[in-house]
Amino acid sequence: MAETVRALILQGPNLNLLGSREPEIYGTLGARDLASLVREWSQELGVEATLVQTNSEGELLDLVQGAEGRFDFLVVNPGALTHTSLALRDALAGIPVPALEVHLSNIHAREEWRRQSWISPVCQGVLVGMGPLGYRLALEAGLVLVGGRNLGPPSGSNPSPVSSPSQ
Ligand code: DQA
Repeated sequence: MAETVRALILQGPNLNLLGSREPEIYGTLGARDLASLVREWSQELGVEATLVQTNSEGELLDLVQGAEGRFDFLVVNPGALTHTSLALRDALAGIPVPALEVHLSNIHAREEWRRQSWISPVCQGVLVGMGPLGYRLALEAGLVLVGGRNLGPPSGSNPSPVSSPSQ
């Protein structure tokens, strides 16, 4: 039997307010309903999911630091810490567990300051603006990443520096 794939799904500050918080941006699905949906999808995909929402940056850091050996991949929506927390960036960079960044809203279509994510450069992939579906896509992407299936970006697809001599 194939080994169970374990995912830690982290929801950062204010994501407990989903449903009532700025519904025109984040939708009307409540935090509990989103968690149920994500659990349902995880079961369907054969992922053993642990979901945690916290408003505390320190707790988020502890959870990331404790993920090595306990989880195969992370799905992280850090809320506003996306745009402020170098400590979260360093925690994610400091563990050998791949992470997918998720945002319900399209952070690139909002305020200028939201376009900067400190954690994108240390994540394997980023899903923005897909609403709850982003979590399902992240679970599927995580499965591909840990399963080593060759569905990822083609090798050499990372942009090379503009000044590269081969350009
Ligand atoms: C968010 C986007 C962040 O800019 C914001 O601070 C959030 C939610 C999203 O899911 O769209 O709290 O991460």
